[in-house]
Amino acid sequence: MMNPIPSSMYNVALILLFSFLLGMSSAKLSENFYKKSCPKVLSIIKSGVRYAVLAEPRMGASLLRLLFHDCFVNGCDASILLDDTVNFIGEKSAAPNKGSIRGFDVIDKIKTQVEKSCPGVVSCADILTIASRDSVILLGGPSWKVLLGRRDSTTASFSDANRDLPAPAFNLSQLISSFSNKGFSVREMVALSGAHTIGLARCVSFRDRIYNDTNINASFARSLQAICPRSKDDNNLAPLDSTPKTFDNGYFKNLLSQKGLLHSDQALFNGSFTDSIVNTYSANPSTFASDFTKAIVKMSTLSPLTGSNGQIRKNCRKIN
Ligand code: HEM
Repeated sequence: MMNPIPSSMYNVALILLFSFLLGMSSAKLSENFYKKSCPKVLSIIKSGVRYAVLAEPRMGASLLRLLFHDCFVNGCDASILLDDTVNFIGEKSAAPNKGSIRGFDVIDKIKTQVEKSCPGVVSCADILTIASRDSVILLGGPSWKVLLGRRDSTTASFSDANRDLPAPAFNLSQLISSFSNKGFSVREMVALSGAHTIGLARCVSFRDRIYNDTNINASFARSLQAICPRSKDDNNLAPLDSTPKTFDNGYFKNLLSQKGLLHSDQALFNGSFTDSIVNTYSANPSTFASDFTKAIVKMSTLSPLTGSNGQIRKNCRKIN
């Protein structure tokens, strides 16, 4: 018969080792990460974002999208901020980003201010996380606590950006699998899509929908056709919801009347099981706000680089 003492000791040792490893991977981001090393970081970023968003409210939307496109491709590591070089094509040139992702100059300006105050301390990945939270607040949306301590990548992946970011032509099951690949439930996917309560999209992103979809409000489609002709003006812009400068639950209300701008937006309310989630969010703004904040915190903590991994870039556009 086996001796029970050594085996239980072995179990205890295993449990301790497991909790230690778990702690090592998850306890590194913290609210107070820069409390001593860069006490003004939050206020510097807040005023940088306020300046940019007051000058152009759409910038708040652009910064939020920048965070999404960073985090969905190999985690929140500021990989999206890296410029292409002669021997490297990064994420900026990938199809979901090219010609549409913006906000880099704002991040650069903020980074310059932060570097003046505490050189070499605050990552571009953390700046982006804080800036998108502050953007949502400035546009009237909910606030949340940001966890900090991310570090910046030394690489970016053109092909992973093309593979992992959802496309506006996606149907519901493609949307579900794109988000479930990153660990998100269907409800979290719908909540996060509510980010389309702010900002604009180019004609090329919604042209197929306004000419070919049948689940679209007819007068809404006609008004969009006026700014997005069949075969030209790819870059003409239309709002993603009827109040694109305000972070509210209007996006979901629009879906109820078949006024989603993107095919992928309307796919969330198209006679399938996600209709009930859209109904909930359109009737209860506070439920949307609380689900959105939980999901965005989860999104902004996707596989961060911590500890001695990665680096603190001096310039967000290039590795040190
Ligand atoms: C559900 C799948 C999603 C798809 C298919 C999608 C697709 C798109 C597309 C095609 C655009 C317009 C790009 C252009 O034409 O220039 C856009 C804009 C935007 N997206 Fe998404 N998106 C999705 C989810 C998200 C999520 C999860 C967020 C943030 C949490 C987000 C935030 C935004 C914002 C704020 C804009 C407006 C940006 C601006 O005005 O500069 N999107 N999205």
